[in-house]
Amino acid sequence: MKKTFITHSLEETQKFAKDWLASLPFESDEATIVGLYGNLGSGKTTFTQSVAKELGIHSSVTSPTFVIEKLYETNHSHFARLIHIDAYRLESGRELQTLNFEDLVDNPNNLIIIEWPENIKEILPENHLKILCEFVDENSRKFEVQ
Ligand SMILES: Nc1ncnc2c1ncn2[C@@H]1O[C@H](COP(=O)(O)OP(=O)(O)OP(=O)(O)O)[C@@H](O)[C@H]1O
Ligand SMILES: [Mg+2]
Repeated sequence: MKKTFITHSLEETQKFAKDWLASLPFESDEATIVGLYGNLGSGKTTFTQSVAKELGIHSSVTSPTFVIEKLYETNHSHFARLIHIDAYRLESGRELQTLNFEDLVDNPNNLIIIEWPENIKEILPENHLKILCEFVDENSRKFEVQ
């Protein structure tokens, strides 16, 4: 089932992230993995920062483009860790395997959010959650949750 949300400000994106987080089922015995699909500037990092805020992460969540993967401890009751991956510069998932990606996937208390997931599709579980992000106009972004 697809659901589409259009936000017209950063505050609305924050609210969308809050509602999305609250809607997640915690029933998996593996990490919750979310692929954020969409072009440059479509709001992927902004959405991730909004989720981080909801998880009680106070350190600033910057784009991990140059380090590929960043891990934050949260004070959320289920998701103990947020892992933010930016695969923009990766050509395959092989590089992530050297970063213990599989160990991260094994832990149900991990929330893994991935920008440019299409670049590492061969290591992503097929049933990962997908959000399509789209630029609408200067202050508006569309998020399609699949
Ligand atoms: N409603 C909105 N929701 C989210 N971001 C918005 C909104 N309106 C404007 N913006 C702006 O859009 C930009 C989105 O940039 P962001 O870094 O999140 O994109 P991205 O998809 O991560 O791009 P990249 O592929 O380069 O990593 C930010 O500068 C943000 O302030
Ligand atoms: Mg980004």
